[in-house]
Amino acid sequence: MGPCLCTPRTLISIKGAAMSRYHDIYRHAIDRPESFWAEQSHRIPWITPPKSILDYDEQGHARWFSDGEMNTCHAALDYHVEQGRGQQAAVLWDSPVTGQRRRLSYRELRDEVAVFAGALAGLGVGKGDRVVIYMPMVPEALVAMYACARLGAIHSVVFGGFAPHELAMRIDDAEPKVIIAASCGIEVDRVIPYKPMLDEALAQSRHQPEGCVILQRDQTVAELGARDHDWASLVAQAEPADCVPVKATDPLYILYTSGTTGKPKGVVRDNGGHAVALHYSMDVIYDMAPGEVFFSASDVGWVVGHSYIVYAPLLRGCTTVVYEGKPVRTPDAGAFWRVIAEYGVKTFFTAPTAFRAIKKEDPDAKWLEKYDISCLKSLFLAGERLDPPTYHWLNDLLKIPVIDHWWQTETGWPIASNLQGLAPMPSKAGSATFPVPGFNVQVLGRDGEPVAAGQEGSVVIREPMPPGCLVGIWGDPARFQHAYMSAFPGCYLTGDGGHFDEDGYLFIMGRTDDVINVAGHRLSTGVMEEVLGGHPAVAECAVIGIHDALKGQVPVGLVIPKDDFDGDEPALEEALVALVREQIGGIASLKQVLVVNRLPKTRSGKILRKLLRTIADGKEFAIPSTIDDPTSLQEVHDLMCDRDLGLAAQAKPQD
Ligand code: COA
Ligand code: AMP
Repeated sequence: MGPCLCTPRTLISIKGAAMSRYHDIYRHAIDRPESFWAEQSHRIPWITPPKSILDYDEQGHARWFSDGEMNTCHAALDYHVEQGRGQQAAVLWDSPVTGQRRRLSYRELRDEVAVFAGALAGLGVGKGDRVVIYMPMVPEALVAMYACARLGAIHSVVFGGFAPHELAMRIDDAEPKVIIAASCGIEVDRVIPYKPMLDEALAQSRHQPEGCVILQRDQTVAELGARDHDWASLVAQAEPADCVPVKATDPLYILYTSGTTGKPKGVVRDNGGHAVALHYSMDVIYDMAPGEVFFSASDVGWVVGHSYIVYAPLLRGCTTVVYEGKPVRTPDAGAFWRVIAEYGVKTFFTAPTAFRAIKKEDPDAKWLEKYDISCLKSLFLAGERLDPPTYHWLNDLLKIPVIDHWWQTETGWPIASNLQGLAPMPSKAGSATFPVPGFNVQVLGRDGEPVAAGQEGSVVIREPMPPGCLVGIWGDPARFQHAYMSAFPGCYLTGDGGHFDEDGYLFIMGRTDDVINVAGHRLSTGVMEEVLGGHPAVAECAVIGIHDALKGQVPVGLVIPKDDFDGDEPALEEALVALVREQIGGIASLKQVLVVNRLPKTRSGKILRKLLRTIADGKEFAIPSTIDDPTSLQEVHDLMCDRDLGLAAQAKPQD
């Protein structure tokens, strides 16, 4: 079945004004999307307001506001200065790892962005050019992103935790004219020089940019080469640049995300639909009014950072907190409470794993007693399912709405949530509540038909997708079609499995593909398999995600050495762990590789990865009739138990 909330049964079981308001608005958005989004389009300042609200590209995908013209930087900065918000804080930077803080008003941020845009223009960056940004959580990362938006250039931010090889792949795909980086990032206990990683990436990449701009930080001063420009010197000579009008459908950014293959997917986001959708979400989902403070503890390298640190809060005229630190150890488990109290945060957003880390260090929330967080009205969590124990811990502790909401890099904003600004509902542990207006969410069985309430299936979004969702895969239109649209005609495949319950609440239970979620970060096991498989001693391998109490999931590698391998197995395992760290980055969190003699396979030679996952997660498993050699399964299971891997010891074959 589709969203059960449309059924009479739901209306009977969850009564009240909020439910009926939600129902009416949801139906309007699904049944008459043009009229719904035409109304919402008035939320942002247009240079040329759109007459065409919804049309379709050659492949039949929605294009929103296609004849409208605007500029995202203008809508988020200049417009608010013009409206009298010049003195209000736009950015509050709090960096426990450096001991620094900074407040930038809307006017200051607008001026810094305009000058940096002028500097980029001086390097030849213009409309449609790509700019790769490789920076930690510093205000200059936002300045760089907005400066690109101001010029109509397309930014592509690469998360600082990715190693040179991953950066190189993104450089080759996006082909940037300029790369902007910081001299270093700072982790809990160490400074990580970024410039050598950038140099190494450029040594590996086919594409070479015309120039690099380096922000020198006090903690590490990078050596600059012939094509490198020092950020401060460049800015000192630059003139401010004006906003360049772009079409609503012109790309604002490319953000790479893990797919099931080794090559990351460059999700392309447009300007107009994105701005309208984010503005709408700040209001109806997060209940944020202009002037209020929003804190999203993520990183500018992820979609959460793009949408809810950089763009949405400022499009809405709010203040955004930019936090360079961790939930724990910078310096303690009270860090988030401190930030919330000090800056008067109304809505806080992070990943459940962050709170699992806090709970582990401070199970009785003693740190919370030190701070007055009465300003906090709701807590939103995403990036992975909010596991019921963490939900209950937070709910009992905070006594404010604790909201699990579900979304992905591709959608750019939440697909399902409890709508705090529109129709707050009672939450249910483990559920992301209801589909957000605009997202026609359905749960389908293998036959493509909606399944009954309570039954698991593939979660899809029926077209048209609302504004703000991906408009394509950079440089590879066929991949959009193939990766997302081919499984069920007319539907976008989210890659997640789940179900609606009898009351219409949506439960997202996990990926149905080879993507894993590690500490709220989305990673591809395929990429890790490519790295392991590239080692000269490895004949075959499989990487699976297994349950982890802190990070939700962690990857584990299973490798079969080549017949002529006569080296030391523990040494090979260690070398492979190091190789993944070097090639992908520490963020991959691959700490265990097991050498095995055989892997369970089907008779046609396909590794039974799903079965391996089931065993590592300690679940009951059925031995498939297609298995080539059942003893291989027993062997792997025994080894997993010996190594105390995941919950394998609890796994049992079905009778
Ligand atoms: N640059 C360089 N290295 C980085 C990095 C960065 N920007 N971010 C992480 N790393 C490194 C870490 O230092 C760590 O290295 P280590 O193996 O030497 O310890 C490794 O990559 C893994 O990082 P992470 O998975 O973050 O583990 P952690 O133990 O450092 O922290 C948490 C665990 C739960 C505290 C942390 O992951 C967290 O705060 N998660 C919140 C997730 C989040 O914001 N998700 C975004 C979606 S909302
Ligand atoms: P990313 O693209 O990195 O944001 O990761 C998106 C994936 O994270 C989704 O496809 C889900 O698998 C998972 N995810 C994000 N939020 C949730 C949530 N609230 N509940 C369950 N899974 C989630």
